[in-house]
Amino acid sequence: MREFDIIIFGASGLTGRYAIEELSHCVNKPPGIKWAIAGRNIEKLKSALTSVQEYLPQGIDIRNIPIIKADTQDPSSVHKMCKRTRLLLNCVGPIFHSDFDSKMMYDDVIK
Ligand SMILES: NC(=O)c1ccc[n+]([C@@H]2O[C@H](COP(=O)([O-])OP(=O)(O)OC[C@H]3O[C@@H](n4cnc5c(N)ncnc54)[C@H](OP(=O)(O)O)[C@@H]3O)[C@@H](O)[C@H]2O)c1
Repeated sequence: MREFDIIIFGASGLTGRYAIEELSHCVNKPPGIKWAIAGRNIEKLKSALTSVQEYLPQGIDIRNIPIIKADTQDPSSVHKMCKRTRLLLNCVGPIFHSDFDSKMMYDDVIK
């Protein structure tokens, strides 16, 4: 059993913020999906949640979505993040490569 169903990695970027907004709508009905956002800069990730919150309708509150620090320059941080989720939505750009042993890096899905 993983801690999260979905983590949006690179959530502070343009694509990541779109992903936050879309996922916020999707998981609102039905509830119960456990998700988090991740990236290399905690303050930028907090800011992403705050700014996307402004676009959401009443009743969807993402201000307490968990934030995870992970940087592709630090493979162990990425590995730890991957172990916590069933699915990783990779929004890191421009291209995300890693040399550690995880098939998830190539299909973006953690079994
Ligand atoms: N923009 C589009 O319309 C669009 C459409 C389709 C596909 N894409 C693809 O989506 C990807 C992202 O594009 P974007 O426009 O969203 O780029 P972006 O706004 O520059 O965002 C890039 C994201 O990657 C993160 N990042 C960069 N280096 C990192 C690292 N070493 N470790 C962890 N996170 C790191 C950035 O974190 P910081 O905020 O900390 O810098 C930011 O969250 C690209 O591959 C792009 O081709 C984009």
